[in-house]
Amino acid sequence: MATSIKTPAFITDKKILDQEFCALRKIADEASCKFLYSPKANSLPVVLRTAMKYVDGFGCSSPYELELVDRVCGPDTSCHLVGPLLTEAMLHAAGDRLDYLTFNSLSQRDRLHSLVPGPVQCGIRVNPELSFIHDPRYDPCRQNSKLGVPISELTRVSASNPDLLRGINGLHFHTNCDGTDFASLLATARHIQDLVPELLENLDWVNMGGGYLFDSADDKTDFFHAVEIFRDGFGLQVFIEPGAALTRRAGIIEATVHDLFDSGGVQIAVLDTTVNHMAEVFEFQFEPDVLGHVDGGVHDYLLAGCTCLAGDIFGEYTFDTPLCIGSKVTFLNMGAYTFSKAHRFNGVGLPTLCTREKDGSLKITHEDSFDAFARTMGMANNAIV
Ligand SMILES: Cc1ncc(COP(=O)(O)O)c(C=O)c1O
Repeated sequence: MATSIKTPAFITDKKILDQEFCALRKIADEASCKFLYSPKANSLPVVLRTAMKYVDGFGCSSPYELELVDRVCGPDTSCHLVGPLLTEAMLHAAGDRLDYLTFNSLSQRDRLHSLVPGPVQCGIRVNPELSFIHDPRYDPCRQNSKLGVPISELTRVSASNPDLLRGINGLHFHTNCDGTDFASLLATARHIQDLVPELLENLDWVNMGGGYLFDSADDKTDFFHAVEIFRDGFGLQVFIEPGAALTRRAGIIEATVHDLFDSGGVQIAVLDTTVNHMAEVFEFQFEPDVLGHVDGGVHDYLLAGCTCLAGDIFGEYTFDTPLCIGSKVTFLNMGAYTFSKAHRFNGVGLPTLCTREKDGSLKITHEDSFDAFARTMGMANNAIV
């Protein structure tokens, strides 16, 4: 796709975004559950504004996310917060803005519960100790996990020392990543139901987290069953808080080829983007989808990022037409965990932010600058140090 926009550019497609949120709203309504958006996947204002039209609230993980949601979506937006870091200062600053707060541990609840403003609904995160993710770096149920109270501990406490759960009226769990069917969600719901039924009897709500790609799962029966376990079995209000499912397809990164040369028999194409802009490509070591790549094409390239990191490469791609200096390369499915994790290592600026409007036109919404880079390095605007 050729555009006149300065690259690298992160382009959000508003039409796709709207379709994704609309589809999930329908699923949530069908399941009679509340639908939150998890802004950690993508917290660009265009995404928050679109989300606002469809969601029941936002599942934030930090005060900055909370404030961003508040500024973009307004003070009436329902905000939930859960994260391993919660401090007295955070509660003083943002407590009144919260509707739901989930403690990550019993110790966090013990220290901070008395500081939570009265109207805020408090929950506790549980680690169901049922793993579905093979890479422990992304598995909230890994051994010695820092995320949530192990369910074995919760079972013990709710039986022997229920006072430690005083003031708690919700349960939160989030245990998967990019799930393409809901079998593991249903297994988790059944597991929790079996292990802590008495606790569930005394609660008002449960948050089943995110981690599932709703549009990749044709059969959603297990999802509906999981909701029913809590909603019909225990009379709980059920929340879901997906992120990637809503945004991944709606973002692309467009880059330009700036150098081409042979290295050991392989054509290297150096782009003006980098794994800095797609941190998960490096973290997970996967090859992102590129427009125009064809298996068995004639022209092979190693697409490379522009930093000095040797491993700043995207992989080997094949095209029907040769690349030349100035060719555009478009990375697809970049809308989740890309811009929210992007950084400026090597002093490479962040991509220009653009939206593809519903009529197909492109609009630039933000351009990175040296001043912004300098500010993150602790330098005031125009300061000579
Ligand atoms: C607590 C919590 N909720 C929701 C999400 C969103 O998950 P996803 O973007 O995979 O749907 C995450 C992601 O890490 C999370 O940690």
